[in-house]
Amino acid sequence: MQSLLLLAAVGLAAAETGIKGWLRYAPVPSANASSLPTNIISLNASSNGPVHAAAVELQNGVAGIFNHSLNVLYPTSYQLSNTGSSIVIGTVAEYANTFGGAPKIPQLEDDGYFLNTTGSSVQILGHNERGALYGAFQYLSMLAQGNFSEVAYASNPSAPIRWVNQWDNLDGSIERGFAGPSIFWANGTVKVNSLDRVTQYGRLLASIGVNGIIINNVNANASALTPQNIEGIGRIADTFRPYGVRVGLALNFASPSANLVYGNLSTFDPLDPRVIDWWQNVTDTIYATVPDMAGYLVKANSEGQPGPLTYNRTLAQGANLFANALQPHGGTLVFRAFVYDSVHLNESVWTEDRANAAVQFFTGLDGKFAENAVVQIKYGPIDFQVREPASPLFSYLQNTSTAIELQVTQEYLGQQCHLVYLPPLWKEILDFDMRTNHTKSLVRDIVTGKRFKRPLSGYAAVVNVGTNDTWLGSHLSMSNLYGYGRMAWDPTSDPQSILEDWVRLTFGFDPTVMSTITNMSMSSWPAYENYTGNLGIQTLTDILYTHFGPNPQSQDGNPWGQWTRADGHSIGMDRTVSNGTGFSGQYPAEVAAVYENISSTPDNLLLWFHHVNYTTPLKSGETVIQHFYNAHYEGSNTAQTYPTQWSALKGKVDAQRYNETLFRLTYQAGHSLVWRDAITNFYHNLSGIADTQKRVGNHPYRIEAESMNLTNYEPYTVSPFETASNFTAIVTSANATTGTASTMLNVQSGTYDVAVNYYDLYGGKAQYSLALNNKQIGAWTGNLEDVLGHTPSIYLDGHSAARITFRNVTIAKGDVLKITGKADGVEPAPLDYISVLPLGVVD
Ligand code: GCU
Repeated sequence: MQSLLLLAAVGLAAAETGIKGWLRYAPVPSANASSLPTNIISLNASSNGPVHAAAVELQNGVAGIFNHSLNVLYPTSYQLSNTGSSIVIGTVAEYANTFGGAPKIPQLEDDGYFLNTTGSSVQILGHNERGALYGAFQYLSMLAQGNFSEVAYASNPSAPIRWVNQWDNLDGSIERGFAGPSIFWANGTVKVNSLDRVTQYGRLLASIGVNGIIINNVNANASALTPQNIEGIGRIADTFRPYGVRVGLALNFASPSANLVYGNLSTFDPLDPRVIDWWQNVTDTIYATVPDMAGYLVKANSEGQPGPLTYNRTLAQGANLFANALQPHGGTLVFRAFVYDSVHLNESVWTEDRANAAVQFFTGLDGKFAENAVVQIKYGPIDFQVREPASPLFSYLQNTSTAIELQVTQEYLGQQCHLVYLPPLWKEILDFDMRTNHTKSLVRDIVTGKRFKRPLSGYAAVVNVGTNDTWLGSHLSMSNLYGYGRMAWDPTSDPQSILEDWVRLTFGFDPTVMSTITNMSMSSWPAYENYTGNLGIQTLTDILYTHFGPNPQSQDGNPWGQWTRADGHSIGMDRTVSNGTGFSGQYPAEVAAVYENISSTPDNLLLWFHHVNYTTPLKSGETVIQHFYNAHYEGSNTAQTYPTQWSALKGKVDAQRYNETLFRLTYQAGHSLVWRDAITNFYHNLSGIADTQKRVGNHPYRIEAESMNLTNYEPYTVSPFETASNFTAIVTSANATTGTASTMLNVQSGTYDVAVNYYDLYGGKAQYSLALNNKQIGAWTGNLEDVLGHTPSIYLDGHSAARITFRNVTIAKGDVLKITGKADGVEPAPLDYISVLPLGVVD
């Protein structure tokens, strides 16, 4: 016991970069190797197959968890009569072959497995090799969590399609990726000489049951199809193959006219025989290199992408072009439902609505898609917002296979700089009942093919891992990737118990670690919704620039269609049939009736469906505007607790992951205040209605930078105005690089936290120092762009606004506080305000 405890302690002390994700196989204190079988028998022994990978994984896992090595034996070199105590892994068919008879086990489906730990031997049997691998990962997950109980059960996935999408560009950048460059691509080609991260990604994906991956951006570049790239894609497919992850490609619809080597056509009309031949030829060529390619993903006629509508062909005709080319090879065509006109939507027309687009574009097409085609539908009708109703297209397409599209990468949800645990959001959508034909029609039963009896169906998640050691940019965000796989395997799973499994696997067994991460994660989506955009108004971020910080104004007055229609008196999209855009009528009658009326619409979707006065009372009794104020304060108050909660884990989590996470949670606490203040000030300004609790616009502990004594600093009017306290910041003067801002503190002598709000721009690393009576109490550099990974900003705005806090500063009345800022590059050491906070106060 003592040596195991020692080992555990050593495990903690070792630096953990996060690169192992949840597959750490850390020593488990209660693991006793004498309870283990004596060897591993790998039945399907082909060296690059999933069963072989599973045997190796079992060997490595056991070595880590038990500090004990097991041999892997192959039937050819082993006396089968001697299987007294083994971990037997293989397909059911191979088991029957080897042992002369099928095991008596429950019905398995594709990718399903049977796990039996009740005897002296452990049986891990898959319907196919992939299923056996999933069973091995499940067994290892039990052991790694210290669960040595006897189990015997079968598990089958809820749907055949459990894919991830990577929005990787061929130049190595990743659209909406926040963890560094691509693990697949660089400089226009596949990184064939450094695919180790691909192997590791394959293991992570297999361990959560993911069986397919699209390896390039949906805004696709035709050059993915050059012979050199096809060869590279083959290498990626070879690397993923042992993990049962099949590779697919995102296509550019106009590729035939992109001057690739396959003959440059002047058209990409999907019904033109030359175009049909062109795609068949390219598809055959790819399958010659990747015989098990999963298929294609196509984004067409959306956000500037080419598509069949250019030739007056339907979306189904466009999709079937590829489906037909894939059909002889057994490939699947996934066609995105994310189709809308981002050029002509006109907000001045009351009845126009981007939310209507998907059902409108697919009207008349149900049943027109080829059997191997699947329509991939974002969970909500707009775009991965913090709160949306489930897309009505799930109910509209009844004779077409569908998959739900989720986002693990937190494009609109804090870009991995804010902790937001997403499975609770996904579960609300998956559990939603569409009441199609007045019959129970849960979204999860639709996307698993059960409700409308569809053969193909499932899930896709945009993940966007990068080369960062943490995969997603933040250690805690990995719970979202883990949760995605688990929910796709079984959408009835409980998000909190998934999270608890992930915590044990990722951070070990300390009960405080468990309760802290669980508390923070489970409160994080509600908190984020509260401080970014509540009542169904959507994430009030900057939709014209990066989707990170606040900018409510940017939602309106442009054709992107994420409108709020806010004016001085009222706010919200009227999506009723009776008086609005008619969107609510896209749902089956029972659901439509709920959303059509304000009285039956849930508060959290009120402004999604209705345009109301700020003074309209909610079901809670609060008015809309007071709820805005209260929610934003409540949400950011929750975020304030995260760094404190996390600090209790010092010494219980290894230093590297502890420090990196503390840094992010501290950033989030500060940025949640930027959100809170921006949104509440914006609507306070617009409505002229005061906060009954007198918080909005009232900041007794702040000293505005522009009101300090400035040397070589000057006031700067920030846009959008609400992203600066009192609308104004200061920047160093054009003719100087170093400026100072000082003030005499008129506070009671005592201990304070001193918070400084500043702006951290991309393109410079300004340096700051904070001094009290000329004695430095802190210094920092404006280098968040190197550390955080969110899309950087070159302006003073809601993306670049940040806060740094110096704790427990002893201050006497009359002390002089001085900040010195040294500009660098385009970053003029911008400052917004300083808060001198009695302990426990947030302002
Ligand atoms: C969002 C996102 C884009 C992406 C698009 C899509 O609009 O901001 O970057 O290309 O969705 O899903 O296709």
